[in-house]
Amino acid sequence: MHYLAGVDIGTSGTKTILVDEVGNVAARAMAEYPLYSPRPQWSEQDPNDWWAAVCTTLKAVIASSGVNPADIVGVGLSGQMHGSVFVDGDGAVLRRALLWNDQRTQAECDWITNTVGKERVVELISNPVLTGFTAGKIIWLRNHEPEVYAKVKKVLLPKDFVRLRLTGEYATEVSDASGTALFNVKKRAWADEMLDAIGIPRSWMPACYESPEISGRISASAAAVTGLAPGTPVVGGGGDQAAGAVGNGIVSTGIVSSTVGTSGVVFAFSDSPIVDPQLRLHTFCHAVPGKWHLMGVMLSAGGSLQWYRDAFCQPEKVVSGALGRDPYELICEEAAGVPVGSEGCIFLPYLTGERTPYPDANARGVLFGITRRTDRAQTARAVLEGVAYGMADSFKIMEEMNLPIQQVRASGGGARSPLWRSIQADITGYDHVTINVDEGPALGVALLAGVGAGVYSSVEAACETVIRVKDNCAPNAQNHHLYQGYHALYQRLYAHLKSDFEETTRLVQAE
Ligand code: XUL
Repeated sequence: MHYLAGVDIGTSGTKTILVDEVGNVAARAMAEYPLYSPRPQWSEQDPNDWWAAVCTTLKAVIASSGVNPADIVGVGLSGQMHGSVFVDGDGAVLRRALLWNDQRTQAECDWITNTVGKERVVELISNPVLTGFTAGKIIWLRNHEPEVYAKVKKVLLPKDFVRLRLTGEYATEVSDASGTALFNVKKRAWADEMLDAIGIPRSWMPACYESPEISGRISASAAAVTGLAPGTPVVGGGGDQAAGAVGNGIVSTGIVSSTVGTSGVVFAFSDSPIVDPQLRLHTFCHAVPGKWHLMGVMLSAGGSLQWYRDAFCQPEKVVSGALGRDPYELICEEAAGVPVGSEGCIFLPYLTGERTPYPDANARGVLFGITRRTDRAQTARAVLEGVAYGMADSFKIMEEMNLPIQQVRASGGGARSPLWRSIQADITGYDHVTINVDEGPALGVALLAGVGAGVYSSVEAACETVIRVKDNCAPNAQNHHLYQGYHALYQRLYAHLKSDFEETTRLVQAE
């Protein structure tokens, strides 16, 4: 029997799985690491922590499954997108990486857009230059840490730094490269004109592959620290959203995924690189060769519930610890007793700014409509609903663009809660189905590795072999009706507060 390894270097931790050819999971392992937020709007991680987590989890899955490393025929890498790993000529990390939800680069993004020209930017990269994307982070380093900038020889995305450690190769693939704002999404190649215009050396960008292509092989030194066999092929893999989409079977038109991880993403497959005229959705290359996708990205979806748990749910943590349960389950059980709309208590989930539908680095979280009756249960439901309103905003944009939505597949940690799934179905009005395997991006890149290793003939064939729809959560018409009023109110709150968010940033920066 052949096995495939899938590694997903996420924001809260790295998840590694070993699967057989029909998708049975032989073992899975998870290792966490810290996220640093040394100043408001900053979000950083140490790439060496990712590497340590990858080594630990690979060793763990090999040991616990008892699989012979020689039977692992391919490795796929997925990871949080857009992060910037700056390395020197020896591949050593020069500073902590700036992450996808770091918001410090607005001035740099404005400079890039003005230098290249707004329309030309969209012609070149099919997207606007947003604070989360990589380009602004490179210019920020040039402006603020010139001594570090002077040592840079390559800029890598998170999973591609791990690839360097595993194979010695500087390489990426089209889905993750799409999120750098330096990549020509239509041509599936680096946007040389963009790089030249803003003075970033072309040589800093790694070689770029299609996602199932072999990009390198496990080196002897990596074999020693991971337990993998030397020479095992490592495929391009994918940014976590494209990889997660493969792991959810989003490989044809009309099937859309709704994923609540730290971020919240609504993802639609596309045969061509269609661009939202208002640039609210991202247009990126898919991990399926020659295909694209559109997606709306909320920065704090599961991240909002995680914040709420950590800030307010000490009692639930204690009780769940004693019962051997997950605190999120208890929080959702409390929220289930609160009526639809949380009696007008509305949460705006912009804890780390927002991207879709409002690309706004200054946006902040808000708890609106608190009364004497507001307790932890009501607040918890307001958080779940606030995130679901934000996800519904992306569905509305897709509807406006006439993108077909025939089936919505719910995934990510958020899909594990039946309550949250039903709130999402009620607010959007779409059935939310779940599938037989709940492994997300790690499964997606294991399947891509299978394509690269010749186990499957194509990405579509891999999905066909492994993925089936399991359950359905249908919307309740009465709740949908009630939620429409609350959703409109939610949308107006951002409009009312936009300039106040900006002023808040000014005040905080002046401190
Ligand atoms: C996608 C995005 C996030 C990160 C972290 O554009 O920024 O989903 O990839 O998961």
